[in-house]
Parts: sequence; C-alpha cells; structure tokens
Amino acid sequence: MRPTVGPRAIREQWVAVDARGRTDRENTRVGTSAVIRELAPPEVRGRIAGLADVLIDCVEGGSSVGFMLPLARKRAEAFWTHVADSAEAGERIVLIAEQPAPDGSREVLGTVQVIFASYDNQPHRADIAKMLVRRSARRQGLGERLLRAAEAAALRAHRTLLVLDTVPGTPAERLYLRCGWTPVGIVPGFALMPDGRECDTRFFYKRLEAVA
Ligand SMILES: CC(C)(COP(=O)(O)OP(=O)(O)OC[C@H]1O[C@@H](n2cnc3c(N)ncnc32)[C@H](O)[C@@H]1OP(=O)(O)O)[C@@H](O)C(=O)NCCC(=O)NCCS
Repeated sequence: MRPTVGPRAIREQWVAVDARGRTDRENTRVGTSAVIRELAPPEVRGRIAGLADVLIDCVEGGSSVGFMLPLARKRAEAFWTHVADSAEAGERIVLIAEQPAPDGSREVLGTVQVIFASYDNQPHRADIAKMLVRRSARRQGLGERLLRAAEAAALRAHRTLLVLDTVPGTPAERLYLRCGWTPVGIVPGFALMPDGRECDTRFFYKRLEAVA
C-alpha cells in the first residue's frame, strides 16, 4: 500500500527504508530514517566504499549503468575515486541516500550526481547521472527523493537545463516520466547490458525554473 495523496509530511512518513527486502505492505510500517543529502566535495572520498557497494549491487542486479559483469571492487572504487576528484574540482555534485545505524555508521542506500556541462556555451546545463538505489532499498521512494534533491541542487548551482539518458522500459524511465522529464528520442543499441546484450537508450531533458 502506498500513499497517493496528502501533504509532503505524510508522504515522507511513508517513504520507508528497508534493507531486509520486506514487501511494500510491510514497509509501510517502517518509519523513514533514510536521509537524502548533498555531500560536501571532500566528503565523497570518505564514502567510496559505500558508493562502490551500491554500484556493484546495481550492476549485479542487471542494470546498464556504464559497467560490465563481473564488476570488481577495485574497478568500482576506481570509478568513485574519479568522481571524488571531479567533485573536489567543482565539476559535479554528489548526493546520497543514507541510513544511520544505531552504532553510528551510515549505510549508503542510493546516490545520484549532477555533472556540470564543461563547455563555455553551456553554463546553464548539467547532466543527471549514476542514479542508483541498492536493490534492497527500492520501491520506497528513495529514487524520487534523490532525483528531486538533485534537481534542487542543480538549481542552486544555476543549472536550469538538465539532461539524462536511460534504458527504455525500466523503473528508471518510469521515475523520470513521473517526475516531469521530457523524452526526446531513442538511440537503438546505444550501450550494453552488464551481460553483454545490446540495449537502447532514451534521452530526456528537464527545464528548471531559474532562481533570481
Ligand atoms: C531507477 C531507480 C533508481 C529507482 O529507485 P527507487 O528508489 O526504487 O525509486 P522509487 O521508489 O522512487 O520508485 C520506484 C517505484 O516504487 C514505487 N514506490 C515508491 N514508494 C513506494 C512505496 N512506499 N510503496 C510502494 N511502492 C512505492 C514508485 O511508484 C515506483 O513505481 P513504478 O516503477 O511502478 O513506477 C532504481 O530502480 C535503480 O537503482 N535501478 C538500477 C539503476 C538504474 O537503472 N539507474 C538509472 C540509470 S539512468
């Protein structure tokens, strides 16, 4: 069961987080303790292990997110090290969904990035990339919360045109359509699935209202 109407406070209450694979109905009983936040650039390096866990989980789950199977931890951590370097260089924003544990640790449940276009003539544009939620935490609203937080972060950085791409027919495509993104077309055979099969890619854009 999931809320369809009601104020944001109520909806937030229902955005339950469950790392144990409970059903949606069971999840409605779990209070939300997941926090969505933008990492300060120097923080990204300290979260590489958790971010690599999420990436590996998504690739092992069959998602086409830039990597092939088997994805070695070393390769995943090298990718996030590049992301940390890039964040520190001011080229991108990294957001995470994290679950605080009683022992003080904080598990990374999901992540997304806002990558600023580097060309001089695109100061208003950014890409949304590496939208990832670990399988055990899906279908509880984290993806939507991450996406909306990424859009807000982009706007704060004065990026008013966002672009992304995804595999048609996936939960990701439904998420972008639900959040008001406009599809612009499909490129057949654009990338490979982690197991080597070809997949199409659908491109989307979203214009954000500029802040004064
Ligand atoms: C795409 C992705 C990030 C979505 O993450 P998510 O946290 O599951 O997203 P949400 O929970 O916001 O929405 C997913 C679904 O759960 C539903 N949902 C949200 N909260 C819910 C709740 N409390 N109870 C039941 N269902 C709920 C949504 O309506 C949506 O349903 P739909 O797919 O049938 O339209 C995730 O599937 C993922 O990581 N996929 C693999 C990586 C990938 O493909 N990334 C995209 C690259 S472009």
